[in-house]
Amino acid sequence: MNAPLLQIRDLSVGYLTDDGAFRAVKNVSFDIGRGELFGLAGESGCGKSTIAYAITRLSKPPAWVAGGEVLLDGEDLLRLPEAALQKVRWRRIGMVFQSAMNSLNPLMRIEAQFHDVLSRHTGASKAQSRARAEEMFKLVGIPAARLDNYPYQFSGGMRQRIVIAICLALQPELIIMDEPTTALDVVVQREILEQVIDLQRSHGFSVLFITHDLHLMAQLCHRIGVMLKGELVEVGDVRQVSRAPVHDYTRRLWGAIPQLPGHGAAA
Ligand SMILES: Nc1ncnc2c1ncn2[C@@H]1O[C@H](COP(=O)(O)OP(=O)(O)OP(=O)(O)O)[C@@H](O)[C@H]1O
Ligand SMILES: [Mg+2]
Repeated sequence: MNAPLLQIRDLSVGYLTDDGAFRAVKNVSFDIGRGELFGLAGESGCGKSTIAYAITRLSKPPAWVAGGEVLLDGEDLLRLPEAALQKVRWRRIGMVFQSAMNSLNPLMRIEAQFHDVLSRHTGASKAQSRARAEEMFKLVGIPAARLDNYPYQFSGGMRQRIVIAICLALQPELIIMDEPTTALDVVVQREILEQVIDLQRSHGFSVLFITHDLHLMAQLCHRIGVMLKGELVEVGDVRQVSRAPVHDYTRRLWGAIPQLPGHGAAA
């Protein structure tokens, strides 16, 4: 088997609060393979977003990484000089965070926002950015003419698609999606995620998918990790984690949904 794309080893992340240091992520280890959809589940506050931010060192004070390694192709991102890390962020690891649809600049046309990202990371000319943006809009099913519009002229679902399209335009090897669609209604949410899965199949990138919705996760992901209070208590193939969970907490999480789907997206 090929070496995993991303290896998280013994990652610990803390927050400094008025009451002292608080450990939000404790010695977490898991791998994400090339072309793999890895789902991270667990109740609110268990540390999922803290991990997502720590991977590309986007954690802001009072957060601090207390220990561990985040190896991308064997290279530890936690020890990479900032200049080298800039080449990894967005270019090799794309991120769609919670409430991402609000991350578009309301004062800029979408075409300009594509160009902003593409010129910064790849040195693309305006014409090259436009061509790439048209290609990406086609992929996510929005007419190219709408590149001339401003964010307010799109629905929430379309804005979310645009953020994903901008992220994919850089062809990252891994996309971190932290509750990418929670602000949307269930039908739109499902449509967008199904589209991401189609793109994943055709383009082969890896995904770290974070959500509360275990049911959805079991349908989309190849492997699942379950977190409880900052610890990864279970990790494995979607079938194994859904049909024969080892940890009592995972069993309780599954118990909260009516049926165990467990068929996964594994090829
Ligand atoms: N800036 C901060 N300062 C102090 N504590 C924080 C900060 N951000 C998060 N925490 C704490 O760290 C823990 C993990 O938070 P995190 O946001 O990673 O959880 P999560 O699993 O992503 O939750 P959710 O599903 O609600 O998004 C929580 O107890 C939270 O209160
Ligand atoms: Mg979160």
